[in-house]
Amino acid sequence: MSDIIVQNSGALSGEVEISGSKNSSLPILAACILTGGKNIISNIPDLSDIKIMYSLLAGLGAKIDRHNEETVIDCERIVSCTTPYELVGKMRGSFLLAGPLLARMGRARISLPGGCPIGTRPVDLHLKGFAAMGTEIERGHGYVDMTAKRLKGAKIYLDFPSVGATENIIMAAVLAEGETIIENAAAEPEIVDLSDFLNKQGAKIEGSGSDTIKICGVEELRGTVHRVIPDRIEAGTFMTAFAMTRGSGIIKKADYEHIKPVAAKLEEMGVKISAGCDGSIKVDARKSLKSADIKTLPFPGFPTDMQAPFTVLLSTVEGTGIIIETVFENRFLHIGELNRMGADIRIDGRASVIEGARQLSGTSVNAFDLRGGAALVLAGMVAKGDTEITGVEHIRRGYENFMPKLQKIGARIDLK
Ligand code: UD1
Repeated sequence: MSDIIVQNSGALSGEVEISGSKNSSLPILAACILTGGKNIISNIPDLSDIKIMYSLLAGLGAKIDRHNEETVIDCERIVSCTTPYELVGKMRGSFLLAGPLLARMGRARISLPGGCPIGTRPVDLHLKGFAAMGTEIERGHGYVDMTAKRLKGAKIYLDFPSVGATENIIMAAVLAEGETIIENAAAEPEIVDLSDFLNKQGAKIEGSGSDTIKICGVEELRGTVHRVIPDRIEAGTFMTAFAMTRGSGIIKKADYEHIKPVAAKLEEMGVKISAGCDGSIKVDARKSLKSADIKTLPFPGFPTDMQAPFTVLLSTVEGTGIIIETVFENRFLHIGELNRMGADIRIDGRASVIEGARQLSGTSVNAFDLRGGAALVLAGMVAKGDTEITGVEHIRRGYENFMPKLQKIGARIDLK
């Protein structure tokens, strides 16, 4: 995607349909490795991160057949247990193939993902879980080599409720001998979606969505049919876009339960929100809003992925807001760029202090990461003059048709 120019867009209005969840699709696609049967999955978004996962799966031997709405994944013949750095380096989610490969093949050789702009993001908790299940782990030449004849169920306490580690350990445990219990597990909706998918394949997983997950290993899994849940971060981003421009509109095909922590914060700020039982959420921000304080936390807390869009929102409302980022150590890269646009944001350790009611002004800015990039697009819509954004490829990693969807509700965005 080329660079874009965003102009002041006034109040957004209209309807937006939410795509399938990126963060659900990635582990579900990885989990297809667990069976030789065919899986038919729908609502997978068309994103560059998903394309990387398809390439990784194809490199391992999977056959992938994409029709309009459905993707058929056939992992009958797995010919390799190695994922190369060229792909893993582009997307950390690639590490999610470790658990399924270990469980099905008894071996996984995965390139270490390395750091990423928002933090060091180690994989120690994933490895700690695999080790507890009897995996021998060797590191060298930039790879982690993992072997286990047959994984054995274990009791695993996670020091932090890591989303990726919880998913990887669940996927390893479904074919293990005996029972695995994960304590202090992540409870994100994507974990529940992955578990639903695996249970349809014949796995025995209980407790997903809580902090204790119990998995009874089974001998084998079979192919199944599954529809991925809506993307709660995409829904939250569009709700924020309506709020920021003091617009009003309807988010369609969303799941309100998943987006409640964000909806609650918007309501606290004065936005009117009402959820229908058909997956629609009405957002009305046609009045003055007030500031709020936010702490990012694992689900059901306020999502770290919504921190950047809310930073822009808080810059536009009366009062001073504080956001404490507790999940990632360096997720403030967008703030320097927002300050160049006239925002008044101070970083103090893991907190950002946002002075509100600032009139942003357009300039050239760079998107350093996915959510920060989306936040810059939102900022451009309320700034005076043109905002030229580079690094837009980051946005393409996680938002399907982001610009066309925004244009449909009134955003003035052009390719440069
Ligand atoms: C997932 C999401 C990402 C979201 C994040 C937190 C996917 C593909 N990505 O990322 O969009 O922002 O959850 O909701 O689903 N950590 C360790 N050791 C580990 C694993 C994680 O220290 O072994 C730390 C990380 O560095 C980070 C924190 O735990 O500071 C949270 O990471 P985690 O929950 O694992 O996030 P991801 O699964 O990478």
